[in-house]
Amino acid sequence: MAISSGLLPSFGAVLSASVPLNCSISAIQSVLPVGADVDFVQTVAVNSTFEVPPENIAFPISPVGLPSLCAVSAWVQAPGNTSFGFGLFLPGDWNGRFLAVGNAGFAGGINWLEMGTQVRYGFATMSTDTGHSSNSTDGRWAYKQPEVINNWGYRALHGSVVTAKQITEAFYAQKPTYSYYSGCSTGGRQGFKEAQMFPDDFDGIVAGAPSWYTKHLQTWVIRYWLNNVPNTDAHHIPPELFPVIGAEALRQCDPQDGLTDSIISDPYNCNFRPEALLCGVETVASNSTAATCLTSSQIDTVKKIYSDWVEWDQRLIYPHVAPGSEASWGVWLLNSSVAPSTYGTDYVKYFLGLGPDWSPWSLNDSIVKFAEKDDPGNASVDTDLSAFQKKGGKLISFHGFADSLVPSAGTTYFYDQVDKNLKPQGIKTSDFFRVFMVPGMGHCGGTTPSFNASWYFAGGFQASLIGPTVHSVPGFSDAKHDILLALTNWVENGTAPDSVIATKWTNDTEHTTVLRQRPICRYPEQAKYTGSGDPNQADSWECRLPWEEGSGPLQNPGSVGSSVFHCSHILRILLVVIISSYSMMIL
Ligand SMILES: *[C@@H]1O[C@H](CO)[C@@H](O)[C@H](O)[C@H]1NC(C)=O
Ligand SMILES: *[C@@H]1O[C@H](CO)[C@@H](O)[C@H](O)[C@H]1NC(C)=O
Ligand SMILES: *[C@@H]1O[C@H](CO)[C@@H](O)[C@H](O)[C@H]1NC(C)=O
Ligand SMILES: *[C@@H]1O[C@H](CO)[C@@H](O)[C@H](O)[C@H]1NC(C)=O
Ligand SMILES: *[C@@H]1O[C@H](CO)[C@@H](O)[C@H](O)[C@H]1NC(C)=O
Ligand SMILES: *[C@@H]1O[C@H](CO)[C@@H](O)[C@H](O)[C@H]1NC(C)=O
Ligand SMILES: *[C@@H]1O[C@H](CO)[C@@H](O)[C@H](O)[C@H]1NC(C)=O
Ligand SMILES: *[C@@H]1O[C@H](CO)[C@@H](O)[C@H](O)[C@H]1NC(C)=O
Ligand SMILES: *[C@@H]1O[C@H](CO)[C@@H](O)[C@H](O)[C@H]1NC(C)=O
Ligand SMILES: *[C@@H]1O[C@H](CO)[C@@H](O)[C@H](O)[C@H]1NC(C)=O
Ligand SMILES: *[C@@H]1O[C@H](CO)[C@@H](O)[C@H](O)[C@H]1NC(C)=O
Repeated sequence: MAISSGLLPSFGAVLSASVPLNCSISAIQSVLPVGADVDFVQTVAVNSTFEVPPENIAFPISPVGLPSLCAVSAWVQAPGNTSFGFGLFLPGDWNGRFLAVGNAGFAGGINWLEMGTQVRYGFATMSTDTGHSSNSTDGRWAYKQPEVINNWGYRALHGSVVTAKQITEAFYAQKPTYSYYSGCSTGGRQGFKEAQMFPDDFDGIVAGAPSWYTKHLQTWVIRYWLNNVPNTDAHHIPPELFPVIGAEALRQCDPQDGLTDSIISDPYNCNFRPEALLCGVETVASNSTAATCLTSSQIDTVKKIYSDWVEWDQRLIYPHVAPGSEASWGVWLLNSSVAPSTYGTDYVKYFLGLGPDWSPWSLNDSIVKFAEKDDPGNASVDTDLSAFQKKGGKLISFHGFADSLVPSAGTTYFYDQVDKNLKPQGIKTSDFFRVFMVPGMGHCGGTTPSFNASWYFAGGFQASLIGPTVHSVPGFSDAKHDILLALTNWVENGTAPDSVIATKWTNDTEHTTVLRQRPICRYPEQAKYTGSGDPNQADSWECRLPWEEGSGPLQNPGSVGSSVFHCSHILRILLVVIISSYSMMIL
């Protein structure tokens, strides 16, 4: 395992390959390189809690019911008088493998909770704090701190992986057989970035909902918000109307995929016609909170929301969100009439350095161009993945179509760009990189009661949404249902996944009764109903290219879905979206 020059000092200690270490500060310190130091080392007994240090505001929840393990916290010096830290769980019952987990948004902190999920498989599991301390929406730490931004952009994860692998090897007196990565959102970006920039770090990577196009995505957040303000203007759509648009999108776009089942399978190919919601003369005068229709200038706003952001020279800045993502627009995308999400504004103020007084109302072309040129922290991912492909690495990505925080079409766009790079080089992209789009799933996980889409497959951040001690897929812990096991099976057995079966339980936090299972297919294939069998069972579906002939789809099997719209239904959607499905606000 190579240490990139300039990133880390060379190792001072000579590693002994034959004697395992005990779980003590002195033992761990003895294998750390010059410039790295142990914070703490502690033994965690079986079925007990690792108490997250109180200063960790990014990931404050303590993982409970852990297997017996040795917990290590260490930090490493980085250029510009900066540093980054990492945590490492070394389980007693080790599966011989190493795995790193990802972070979220602008957060700075070790993700001990997600480490807790993944250590239950037996991986030696690591997370970096990315080199600063903050919650996921707060970007103020970046102001005039280019090296701290570099730590967040790429350096901290790579440097932590290199150091943590050294500790792991010394601790067990054995090199890990394989190294993996699992993350979502910023964690997805980190996975892509590692594949592109440090191809030797991992043999396999699962990168969900990747916010990989940082230099475009963050200004897109502001551009999108500008579409819907000021709220005194006639074109403003109040959040109360988002579920109305959502119900109409479901009504129009659900049957277009050939099966009316309350799930929009192919949202980007739906000819959604928002004019169906135009108010008639009798409703125009009614209060907005009571309204169930849109004015013609509000319809124009809906059309902007469903349009790609294209700028000078027809350049795509960011693809639009998909019909079916409306239930969560209010949470992040178009929440406030005062200011857009800080994912946009803090980026311009503190990463690009325009300062705390910069106003989102003054977003202009020069700022968008500056972001593209400057790309603070080198955070965006280049689409040439040939080095990762050459060394035999395997990359899996997934993205929920109902994600309104990171538009899902950005992930298929990335895949297509990689393909454009590699196909002329004689490389078949699907031999090492596969993307799985998830109908009806929100950002990284979750669904709404109007879809009840199958969304759970043990992707990054998912397990903690369904229970504090869950890992893998309860009742279905195998490579067909668990995307991480699909990856290890691909890396170690050469079995490439064509699909992964996603699960929805009647009650996701109880996960006893399965409501629905359905394959998610590798892009550009889509799940098609075979025409017979229970549509809530995975084997009634097959993965096909959308233009392929199949055994014709069946309409309305048992009327699974309902597009009937009630006020109480809206409230329930909003409530469930906010409380459960999107309870982890992560980018
Ligand atoms: C752990 O290892 C260190 C260094 O080898 C040694 O000094 C110490 O006594 C050991 N502690 C225990 C509890 O075995
Ligand atoms: C683990 O701890 C919890 C709470 O302390 C307890 O309820 C449970 O029975 C324990 N499980 C095992 C397997 O020891
Ligand atoms: C490096 O940072 C530390 C704490 O962040 C500070 O106390 C120290 O003065 C800094 N050193 C230099 C040379 O800037
Ligand atoms: C994150 O930190 C910022 C700045 O301190 C604060 O305004 C915001 O409320 C915090 N967000 C959460 C979710 O805690
Ligand atoms: C609009 O709301 C106001 C205040 O809640 C109420 O007095 C008025 O009757 C409502 N108008 C209509 C047309 O519903
Ligand atoms: C907007 O965000 C705030 C917290 O920042 C939240 O309390 C509120 O519910 C959100 N609005 C909607 C419509 O989701
Ligand atoms: C764009 O915005 C920046 C920062 O507010 C400002 O300095 C610049 O003059 C603006 N450019 C144009 C062309 O308006
Ligand atoms: C930024 O990333 C590119 C690849 O996208 C790489 O060629 C370049 O060396 C990186 N720059 C820095 C400063 O790390
Ligand atoms: C989704 O599931 C919930 C709870 O099980 C149920 O109340 C609701 O009607 C279901 N919605 C659809 C569209 O099937
Ligand atoms: C490789 O395949 C064997 C036989 O099917 C299976 O038992 C094993 O779990 C697979 N290994 C991985 C890492 O999936
Ligand atoms: C799901 O199960 C949990 C745990 O048993 C329970 O607290 C919750 O109320 C259930 N949710 C619903 C919608 O029934």
